[in-house]
Amino acid sequence: MKILVTGGAGYIGSHTAVELLDAGHEIAIVDNLSNSKIEAVNRIKEISNREFKFYQVDLLDENGLRNVFLENDFDAVIHFAGFKAVGESVSKPLKYYYNNITSTVMLLEMMSEFGVKKIVFSSSATVYDSSNKPPLKEDMKLGTTNPYGSTKFMIEEILRDLYASDSEWAISILRYFNPIGAHKCGRIGEDPNGIPNNLMPYITQVAVGKREKLSVFGSDYDTHDGTGVRDYIHVVDLAIGHIKALDKISNNKGVFTYNLGTGIGCSVLDVVNNFIKATGKEILYEIVDRRPGDIDVCFADSTRALDELGWKTKYDLYNMCLDSWNWQKNNPNGYEK
Ligand code: NAD
Ligand code: WQD
Repeated sequence: MKILVTGGAGYIGSHTAVELLDAGHEIAIVDNLSNSKIEAVNRIKEISNREFKFYQVDLLDENGLRNVFLENDFDAVIHFAGFKAVGESVSKPLKYYYNNITSTVMLLEMMSEFGVKKIVFSSSATVYDSSNKPPLKEDMKLGTTNPYGSTKFMIEEILRDLYASDSEWAISILRYFNPIGAHKCGRIGEDPNGIPNNLMPYITQVAVGKREKLSVFGSDYDTHDGTGVRDYIHVVDLAIGHIKALDKISNNKGVFTYNLGTGIGCSVLDVVNNFIKATGKEILYEIVDRRPGDIDVCFADSTRALDELGWKTKYDLYNMCLDSWNWQKNNPNGYEK
């Protein structure tokens, strides 16, 4: 298939681009590089040994996007592009609603205009209401607590409404849990701007000497060691989930929603200890107050993805730590030279 990958220069998009090319698909990437570097695109080409078109275009630029559709005959779109920082979304909600929602509506309009009615969308476990008891299942109650999460929920609603209005659409909504890790080769990985918000990039930056110590946000949660529990998933397993979702929508019309997680909950200290074991690096940490807005436990029930897509994860936490470190140690400054 010929796939448009929006946000393909980013962390999950770049890994998915490699898997798409390896699976024999043709791709084109659209990314405005607002949270990524052109070097990621070069490395996708290097790893896959394949050429493809890259457009530095903002999805909000209607003419720029139309030009991409005019130059290519797409079968489907995988839509990663969007802003993702929860904290920033609280202080700048309009920036998030505008970039994430308006750009998605513009993309969907363009797809309609060109008769491209297959889309895989990056949603998030954050759309589940915090009152649900894990493991989280796709049909559980939805509810959000911050503007970022609300953009994901609203886009899901837009996609469901779109299918209700036109049953020619084939839509896959993928709810990611906590992606970490990197491609085995250590050439692509997560490259956050500034101080990382997320746990694994913070740990790898401590390991590489860029940060002094990790702050562990709370040790009084109702979990096996008191620290927060999440479902960490290797980004390559996640990427492969997109290939499976694409297969599903190439043969079926409708809206198909899947959790992509391992089903295993790991605490902050489990991650730290696995990282130390996998890498031999010491990780200094101190326990500090809880981070506002954090929940105690979140992990997936991914049996629907197994039953309907034949997808299951391959990598455990130890391997996720190994690969995160392999990326960071080979690229101490990310994609910057
Ligand atoms: P990322 O920031 O690395 O990648 C997103 C890419 O989209 C970036 O390269 C950015 O430059 C691009 N982009 C943003 N707005 C754009 C616009 N208007 N036009 C064109 N390009 C634009 O993020 P990621 O971690 O790879 O996440 C990919 C998707 O998955 C996002 O939608 C994110 O919300 C979602 N998601 C991520 C996580 C996570 O923990 N990383 C979890 C759940 C869901
Ligand atoms: C994981 C655990 C923290 C940093 C976020 C978004 C979510 C989704 C994935 C996009 C928690 C603890 C963290 C640190 C710590 N993104 N922690 N010290 O919060 O589960 O999810 O990313 O959709 O929407 O909210 O991920 O990596 O920030 O935190 O102790 O320096 O690590 O409290 O228990 P989170 P995270």
